[in-house]
Amino acid sequence: MTNTLKAPQTTPETPPSPASPLLRFYQSSIGKKLITGATGLALATFVLAHMVGNLILFVSRDAYNTYAWAIENLGIAFYVFELVLVAVVMLHALVGIEIFWRKRQARPQGYSIYQSAGGPSHQTLSSRTMIVTGSVLSVFLVAHLLTFKFGPYYTTELGGETMRDLAQLVVEKFQHLPYVMGYSAILVLLASHLRHGLWSALQSIGLLNKGIRPLVYGASAVVGGGIAAGFLLLPWAIYLGLVS
Ligand code: HEM
Repeated sequence: MTNTLKAPQTTPETPPSPASPLLRFYQSSIGKKLITGATGLALATFVLAHMVGNLILFVSRDAYNTYAWAIENLGIAFYVFELVLVAVVMLHALVGIEIFWRKRQARPQGYSIYQSAGGPSHQTLSSRTMIVTGSVLSVFLVAHLLTFKFGPYYTTELGGETMRDLAQLVVEKFQHLPYVMGYSAILVLLASHLRHGLWSALQSIGLLNKGIRPLVYGASAVVGGGIAAGFLLLPWAIYLGLVS
């Protein structure tokens, strides 16, 4: 009698699918694109509003301080907004890094020898450096918050109200050329990130068709450049003594 040994049953290794539909969505490629697209558009909206808000300092120091004071005095809504903002920034960065990592693993030759394809895929310097510009902007954000949000707390009296003199801090910082140059460099990176990011976000959430795609691609560059230019006005105006 011969003993027949049965070969162990082997099943192909498939990672277990997460039970939660939300987690399944997060882990899918399309889910990741939708998350970066939606969070990216939300951040672009914030950045646009922030840029316009900064321009109030061209009106007067009092107008700028009153504006900042009014926002901070929105009460609970302000804290909810800040929490959402932090969550959106972190989610955007996390999913962006994951997308970059997946693409890198799928394309072993790496980014450096990539040729610009132009055309419909819109491979440009902006698109290929999203991970670099995004990473630098994240580091900038921490330094930026330490400088302004958590920086020196000057106060001023306005209409019988004691409020933070944020204008004093902004003017003080941008009287120094290294600050102005540093911000100028960062804003070039922001323009580049927005140039590809805006277009790509609209594409990811399915708002573009073949007809309007080239138009929106051009518009993203204009909007990205416009936002960066709007931000640049204040540091240079302060440095040149046009705002004091
Ligand atoms: C010349 C350019 C800029 C100036 C003068 C400026 C100025 C300021 C100031 C004064 C604050 C503190 C506001 C407060 O405490 O009430 C602030 C906060 C902030 N800034 Fe900027 N900023 C500039 C560019 C940017 C850019 C390019 C980004 C993003 C990429 C950015 C993101 C933020 C964020 C996330 C906050 C915190 C907002 C909050 O606490 O709700 N800023 N900025």
